[in-house]
Amino acid sequence: MQFPALLFLAGSLFTAAHALQNGLAIKPPMGWNPYNVFLCDTTEDQYHTAAQALIKSGLSSLGYQYFNLDCGWQGTNRTENGTFTWDATRIPSGVPALASYVHGLGLKFGVYSDAGYYSCDFVGGSAHWLGSLGHEKADAAAFTSWGADYLKYDNCYSVNSTDFVDYNPPFSLEPHYTAMRDALNSTSRPVVYSVCEWGVQDPARWATSVGNSWRISNDVGPPNSWANIVRIINQVVPVTGFAGPGAWNDLDLLEVGNTGLSVAEQQSHFAFWAAVKSPLLISTNLSNAAQSTLDILGNTRIIGLNQDSLGKSISFKRRYTNDYDVWSGPLADGSTVALLLNWQNQTRPLTFDLSDVSFKSATAIDLWSGESLGKVVDSYNTTLDGHASLVLRLSDTISLPSPSFTYYPASSTNTTLSGGAASRSVNSTITVVGGIGYNGSLTFTGIDGGSSGGSKLVSIDYINADFTYQNTDCSNCRNAYISVNGGPAQQMQMPISGQSWDILFSGYLVGLSDFRPGRNNTIQFANPNAWAPDILRIGVRLS
Ligand SMILES: *[C@@H]1O[C@H](CO)[C@@H](O)[C@H](O)[C@H]1NC(C)=O
Ligand SMILES: *[C@@H]1O[C@H](CO)[C@@H](O)[C@H](O)[C@H]1NC(C)=O
Ligand SMILES: *[C@@H]1O[C@H](CO)[C@@H](O)[C@H](O)[C@H]1NC(C)=O
Ligand SMILES: *[C@@H]1O[C@H](CO)[C@@H](O)[C@H](O)[C@H]1NC(C)=O
Ligand SMILES: *[C@@H]1O[C@H](CO)[C@@H](O)[C@H](O)[C@H]1NC(C)=O
Ligand SMILES: *[C@@H]1O[C@H](CO)[C@@H](O)[C@H](O)[C@H]1NC(C)=O
Ligand SMILES: *[C@@H]1O[C@H](CO)[C@@H](O)[C@H](O)[C@H]1NC(C)=O
Ligand SMILES: *[C@@H]1O[C@H](CO)[C@@H](O)[C@H](O)[C@H]1NC(C)=O
Ligand SMILES: *[C@@H]1O[C@H](CO)[C@@H](O)[C@H](O)[C@H]1NC(C)=O
Ligand SMILES: *[C@@H]1O[C@H](CO)[C@@H](O)[C@H](O)[C@H]1NC(C)=O
Ligand SMILES: *[C@@H]1O[C@H](CO)[C@@H](O)[C@H](O)[C@H]1NC(C)=O
Repeated sequence: MQFPALLFLAGSLFTAAHALQNGLAIKPPMGWNPYNVFLCDTTEDQYHTAAQALIKSGLSSLGYQYFNLDCGWQGTNRTENGTFTWDATRIPSGVPALASYVHGLGLKFGVYSDAGYYSCDFVGGSAHWLGSLGHEKADAAAFTSWGADYLKYDNCYSVNSTDFVDYNPPFSLEPHYTAMRDALNSTSRPVVYSVCEWGVQDPARWATSVGNSWRISNDVGPPNSWANIVRIINQVVPVTGFAGPGAWNDLDLLEVGNTGLSVAEQQSHFAFWAAVKSPLLISTNLSNAAQSTLDILGNTRIIGLNQDSLGKSISFKRRYTNDYDVWSGPLADGSTVALLLNWQNQTRPLTFDLSDVSFKSATAIDLWSGESLGKVVDSYNTTLDGHASLVLRLSDTISLPSPSFTYYPASSTNTTLSGGAASRSVNSTITVVGGIGYNGSLTFTGIDGGSSGGSKLVSIDYINADFTYQNTDCSNCRNAYISVNGGPAQQMQMPISGQSWDILFSGYLVGLSDFRPGRNNTIQFANPNAWAPDILRIGVRLS
């Protein structure tokens, strides 16, 4: 049984082993794009000023080297021979001259086009900015002849010339994107290729060999909000493993410097994007940037995470719902980055339990401050501001043995289903229980509490493909309420496990108390107000 908010026919569900072989973006691209502040409205003078500001701020020398255009630079009609044009009012000197200007500053130059009949967004009246669908070869030739080093390739009007934004296109978008990939390849100029289909067809599972990056989600803004950041963080959970040199999950442009986020929220946003190996594309007005903006964007330790040569993303480790998240991942020198995100919007004490990243002890450096924290054993106590992040580099680590669990399947004669809850066969090997939520509940019986009962770590394997483009109460997650022996229910916000109802998340961890000794415990999953994920099995740690 499945209860998706939206359904679509996914493209091929294979895992590409290799990246696009254009030799570029071996580390995530860094640069600037106007969209989050200038929208589709930027003029030649503004581009010049912005490119100078990227230099003057010192940020270009820290790696922000791609100076990219977004929507609004294009013309609305091709030339008689079919060549792409620019808006001569906005860019009177022309795009080749703009590219030369940008190159003259020592930056690389990026253009923007669209895999549809027209481009995003609205010119006004009945005119439209040009799209590249059907003109891939000519447009790739034009862009590269003008000096483009980067192409962001958007997805408006991809279905037909009246369908502006379609989150559920009736066909696979992949051919639109491979056509431009191949067209770029047939020019002799290496071009970073940024696939921007907004995550609608789960591009991590097909775009690793198509683009150097792929947007995993709908826009981060504008308008700018913490809720947008949360929506995107949940959406990347199932695809962190697809990132690697030359092929990156793109969480969208940075909102650092723009109104709508506190400084701590901007820091968390930046650290998360960096550690997940998203392209880092500044999208603020650097001509009036606050010092706090420059400090965040210019933190070389956080930039170093993004540009680490191993090129592996952090992955989701543990969520203490409404409290904090723990993510971690490996770095090239054998150390580990751990990122904790405070979900509470107030200053609070926080204990980082090293066992959440499988360590007994480590030598730690706080990457925001650069402060050495020395050797930490078992736990590290700190204070975090509202929505702030703790970002630690852990070396000299001593690992803990992996916990072992006793597993109980959800679809079993030992579970009780109520209301609409029912077994759903996912494929020939696994069957889950779905329809949990509203009147539907799943209760495991006969759970072993060991010789002493008490508190246990519980591991949950589940499926949740309820992904969304808009912010909701639980964007790209579902709530489940879990209780032991009929006791108080504990909320769990469980991120999507994938974008189709056959992709599993294994090992969502939650600590539960009030187990009785012996094999006489029950664990119930429910949600009185909404759908919960489909459950495959639970594991209870004994020891
Ligand atoms: C420009 O293109 C539009 C379609 O987008 C068309 O209706 C219009 O006639 C064209 N204008 C010129 C001057 O060719
Ligand atoms: C198209 O015409 C323009 C001049 O309007 C010229 O610069 C360009 O080389 C021509 N392109 C092709 C493909 O013939
Ligand atoms: C464009 O596509 C949308 C969505 O598939 C469809 O509803 C609409 O009828 C199409 N319009 C035309 C003119 O084909
Ligand atoms: C074109 O693709 C081939 C094979 O993947 C690759 O070796 C080459 O570097 C690419 N060329 C460009 C300009 O991207
Ligand atoms: C979190 O608190 C800060 C500071 O009080 C505030 O600026 C921000 O808007 C709050 N964020 C949310 C999402 O409420
Ligand atoms: C960018 O900042 C400059 C300098 O303060 C200001 O003149 C300009 O209006 C700003 N542009 C936007 C789009 O915010
Ligand atoms: C952190 O605080 C917890 C109690 O909140 C305590 O159990 C633990 O020992 C403390 N850890 C360190 C390293 O001080
Ligand atoms: C039900 O629980 C009993 C006791 O724990 C166990 O022996 C039996 O294998 C379980 N049955 C199923 C179908 O899991
Ligand atoms: C549960 O709710 C569904 C509607 O979602 C309804 O069809 C069904 O009858 C209800 N079952 C019970 C046992 O109340
Ligand atoms: C069934 O789905 C699970 C979860 O996605 C997957 O691990 C397994 O390989 C699938 N089995 C078959 C036979 O497709
Ligand atoms: C199991 O627990 C229930 C209370 O939920 C109790 O009534 C029952 O006697 C217990 N059975 C055993 C064998 O301990």
